[in-house]
Amino acid sequence: MKEILLKIEKLKKEKDAVILAHYYVSDEIQEIADYVGDSYYLSKIAVELPQKVIVFCGVTFMGESAKILSPQKTVIMPEALADCPMAHMAAIEKIKEVRENYEDLAVVCYINSTAEIKKFVDVCVTSSNALKIVRALPQQNIYFVPDENLGRYIASQLPEKNFIFNDGYCHVHDEIMIDELEEAKAAHPNAEVLVHPECTLTVIGAADYVGSTSGIIDYATASDAEEFIIGTEIGIFYQLEKNNPDKKFYPINQNQICPNMKKISLHKVAHALENGINQINVDEQTRTKAVMALEKMLELAQ
Ligand code: 13P
Ligand code: SF4
Repeated sequence: MKEILLKIEKLKKEKDAVILAHYYVSDEIQEIADYVGDSYYLSKIAVELPQKVIVFCGVTFMGESAKILSPQKTVIMPEALADCPMAHMAAIEKIKEVRENYEDLAVVCYINSTAEIKKFVDVCVTSSNALKIVRALPQQNIYFVPDENLGRYIASQLPEKNFIFNDGYCHVHDEIMIDELEEAKAAHPNAEVLVHPECTLTVIGAADYVGSTSGIIDYATASDAEEFIIGTEIGIFYQLEKNNPDKKFYPINQNQICPNMKKISLHKVAHALENGINQINVDEQTRTKAVMALEKMLELAQ
């Protein structure tokens, strides 16, 4: 075994640590992680695990959500600068303004958001549970932050509700273009198209399946098709190919790369664990407010 892997294993035991990773981190990190999953799975499992220290191989909002839900645990980010730009794309003033203008309103917040934003919302959602949760809300008006594309997709499935959108987006998914998808389909006419709901509604409309990263992996694994065109970050190819060695997977374009997820390396995992650096801190006043929206998600997603 490589020296760095032995070092990480030894540190994990010494520190009572567990490694969580999202499907978008590099292959070598997914390989050493104890648990790999989508945002919903990772937020749930972080609460249930017995270890004192969580090394979160993902972006800031993921580590922050784990810390908010389990304040007694130490949450370490291998790379302090691995942040999701979309997590910052909602304005608290705008949330307050929309609340004043609508009665019977729920502010629904994608988990890809800062702890500060979560303080001002009613419920969090991830891509795997958003439809179920928004459908179950009694409110007629839904202000969906920060991701416009996910909001529009959920709205397209729930015509009985009135949606107000925010203009946040994920650059990785928003830049997947319909003409690129049409070209990929022409090149692979027998392939099924599986996309993430952070893609535009136009791209989603041309897909055979839309779902979270776990949803995409489960769908491809269960499908009889032999080829798939994948509209999400390429880190997912590691698990897709591992589960399905005889199937073929193609990206829609060459830029399906989340630079922040790719900042995490084995050396950074070892260094952060050894030195206890890049710990997530959420002040108690923020935590007690933000936790309500996350706990409500866990309750409604069941
Ligand atoms: P999932 O919840 O589907 O894993 O998505 C997380 C994410 O950041 C998508 O860009
Ligand atoms: Fe954020 Fe997009 Fe990266 Fe997901 S893929 S973490 S939404 S920038």
